Amino acid sequence: MKRTKIKDLLNTTEFGQQVTVKGWVRTFRNNQFIAINDGSSINNIQAVVDFTTTEESVLKRITTGSAVSVTGQVIESLGKGQRVEIKVEQLEIIGDCDAEKYPLQPKKHSLEFLREIAHLRFRTNTFNAVFKVRNALAYAIHKFFNERGFVYMHTPVITGSDAEGAGEMFRVTTLDLDNLPRTEDGSINYKEDFFGKSTNLTVSGQLEGELAALAFGEIYTFGPTFRAENSNTTRHLAEFWMIEPEMAFYELDDNMDLAEELLKYVIRYALDNCSDELEFLKGRLQEEEKQKPQNERSELDLITKLNFCLENDFERITYTEAIQILKNSKPNQKKQFKYLIEDWGADLQSEHERYLVEKHFKKPVILTDYPAEIKAFYMKQNSTDEQGRNTVRAMDILFPGIGEIVGGSQREESLEKLERRMKEMHIPVEEMNWFLDTRRFGSVPHSGFGLGFERLVLFVTGMTNIRDVIPFPRTPKNAEF
Ligand code: 4AD
Ligand code: MG
Repeated sequence: MKRTKIKDLLNTTEFGQQVTVKGWVRTFRNNQFIAINDGSSINNIQAVVDFTTTEESVLKRITTGSAVSVTGQVIESLGKGQRVEIKVEQLEIIGDCDAEKYPLQPKKHSLEFLREIAHLRFRTNTFNAVFKVRNALAYAIHKFFNERGFVYMHTPVITGSDAEGAGEMFRVTTLDLDNLPRTEDGSINYKEDFFGKSTNLTVSGQLEGELAALAFGEIYTFGPTFRAENSNTTRHLAEFWMIEPEMAFYELDDNMDLAEELLKYVIRYALDNCSDELEFLKGRLQEEEKQKPQNERSELDLITKLNFCLENDFERITYTEAIQILKNSKPNQKKQFKYLIEDWGADLQSEHERYLVEKHFKKPVILTDYPAEIKAFYMKQNSTDEQGRNTVRAMDILFPGIGEIVGGSQREESLEKLERRMKEMHIPVEEMNWFLDTRRFGSVPHSGFGLGFERLVLFVTGMTNIRDVIPFPRTPKNAEF
């Protein structure tokens, strides 16, 4: 008999039909009621066995975590909180599970504990919901861009360049680390390495994306990126997924419009298509909020927070305006920030970003025109202002509870200006000729941005630690499997 998915069964009105359900036992009560989950829904189906006719040796093997197949009639349930159950006629244990050794108990586990057994956490409701939402968001992203004629471009994972120029790269090498080949001056001889040069895992697909945008017009990438930054925070991963659209003939305003439209589209998609999961996650978050002191609790529930984001235009201000607001802010005056804002030019920390979004504007904020000194080499340079300050056409989108979710800019299209900036920043111009050809041959104004996928999933699911929204988190000292 064909297997029926629990999700479909829970909504059925066809009582009396004969079905087979296969899944894993969540609980087994009173030697009679099996709660089975097959992953298709957060909700379980109840299967009722007749213990008077089932062998004792079989009943004993129905334990939390064991895999079973049940066949029987779908009947209306008299039990609380469920409409449908299965009256079991045939029961098969597909895979045993020793309850003594199985780490998951039929109770609520802490996220910390589940992180310790990350290889099994898919089997919990929380992670079922989180990764379903993650899946829906990934789909929505592809849908958004494809509906608008953007071409999905696969950029390489192994590269020879540092797209961000920040030196936070993981080396890729086949050289024998205990016996490195040396040149005459004693430095490592990368000519002997696999690619005949030094290579690393990509930190961003942007530069390759620019090549494609200046031919296709509008493209996007969506792939894994890697950063060897030693930031052990709840917002950083060493391996994360990034969506990077790149568009010819877009200026900064067009870039901001596209990013705002994308974010609203995918949040709307999740609200429309993941209502069960988001309702569950909303409840989970409410429980978590109860543990906090009253004054630290969020005023808005998850669903309200997501809708709120859709209903409001994102606030667009310059870095210079933001610094003014932060300088005069209460936490700065009262020295409550860890990093006090004193002068123009400072990089914003997440405490500042969150102040602007959560306390000052109370909605997402797009900050533009950052000091050139704290941004990447490829950003379009503004003309020097009256006070001799240099800024670039950057834009960062800041979200409540997250801080920076998007980083992007208009790109410097002038070959001369770009080369000058690269030299100032000690970026090897000769090795980047392939990139500079975009500016040599038919250069046009163009823009793009990077959306951190896990930060988006964090926001939509209301989870608080980035390790809980990627199936296999990679963080400093943690790459277990
Ligand atoms: O601001 P970033 O570094 O920008 C770029 O990489 C550009 N090349 C993007 C572009 O213009 N095409 O990173 C973009 C976004 C950040 O806003 C953040 O959401 C996310 O990527 N991000 C990280 N997410 C998780 N862990 C990390 N270590 C991250 N670093 C950046
Ligand atoms: Mg950034």
